[in-house]
Amino acid sequence: MTTSYKLLVLPGDGIGPEVMSEVLKVASCIEDLSSVNFEIEQDEIGGAAYDKYGTPLSEETLKKAKNSHAVLLGAVGGSKWDNLDFSLKPEQGLLRIRKELDLYANLRPALCFESMVGASSLKPELVSGLDIMIVRELTGGVYFGEPRGIKELSDGTRQGTNTQTYNTNEIRRVARIAFELAQKRNKKVTSCEKSNVMESGILWREEVEHVHQNEFKDLELSHMYADNCAMQLVRNPKQFDVIVTDNLFGDILSDEAAMLTGSLGMLPSASLGAIDENNFRKSLYEPVHGSAPDISGQGIANPIASILSFAMCLKYSFGMDHESDLINNSVNKVLSEGFKTADLIGDDDKNLSTEEMGNQIIKVIKGLG
Ligand code: IPM
Ligand code: MN
Repeated sequence: MTTSYKLLVLPGDGIGPEVMSEVLKVASCIEDLSSVNFEIEQDEIGGAAYDKYGTPLSEETLKKAKNSHAVLLGAVGGSKWDNLDFSLKPEQGLLRIRKELDLYANLRPALCFESMVGASSLKPELVSGLDIMIVRELTGGVYFGEPRGIKELSDGTRQGTNTQTYNTNEIRRVARIAFELAQKRNKKVTSCEKSNVMESGILWREEVEHVHQNEFKDLELSHMYADNCAMQLVRNPKQFDVIVTDNLFGDILSDEAAMLTGSLGMLPSASLGAIDENNFRKSLYEPVHGSAPDISGQGIANPIASILSFAMCLKYSFGMDHESDLINNSVNKVLSEGFKTADLIGDDDKNLSTEEMGNQIIKVIKGLG
């Protein structure tokens, strides 16, 4: 029997469409190897959506996202839309889809493929075998807190305000995801905040502690100030298993962790919501890298982060662990054979275009599958 899954594909801006083409090829290859069929619909988000619909995320697109089993996203943003009103900027489309689908847990694995050890800015022994999972809270904190805005004061100067807020439920639910992941990994969670200066950080620490005491006592939990975590990530990254942190710290720490693995062009992410009454979890998958306008249209972008995001989709949304591993192993094999895109290229490597990299990965998937 064939199972059918609805996928909404939102390539977005910059290199988004280029890398997404390769994902679609991989998806069709997985269909051939499994009993699963993907019903794929494409639409726009970000600047491309503004150009087409006058808004970075249209109501229609949002409705389609709510009605699909998973959303695959490329990237948003570019200087073309720099002068738009803040509320119409490409990034607002991304923030809105996260919020509207209530995708509160953003999983950002920082995994160093053996063939990439030399590409890291850290010494090989520090990153060899590195496998960290960053769980970033994605729908709260300073990204969404009120009040916010820029206002003029009576003396004529201006004041910008953003508010960091978290409540019990928001902290506990993302903490649970982190503990559940740790359960299947090395059973260690590090929670990061700034409870030395922020009340929201004190609450964060207490609520994570509460979830630990009541539901996951068998796991190891430690707390770390976010600035210290930033330092520890470059000092000794292998001390970490799962890191759980808020929206803003998670944004920053995940970029830092990404670079440990050699290239931002390699890192996938999954954004997950709550499980609904039909035992179904809303989800969106996107590369951690952005739209890279400087290289877009040249066919040289690295499609691996997007392809690995699709692998995460297979695992976290459809329970297709075998096919997900197949993609991961194929990427590893292609890299270890010296096939690289421009961002990864070393002396003896073979330089592949975006399309060639997609084809090479598919060739290996077919061979291994
Ligand atoms: C990310 C990005 C986004 C964020 C931007 C594009 C809004 O940096 O996904 O990490 O800050 O969350
Ligand atoms: Mn970011």
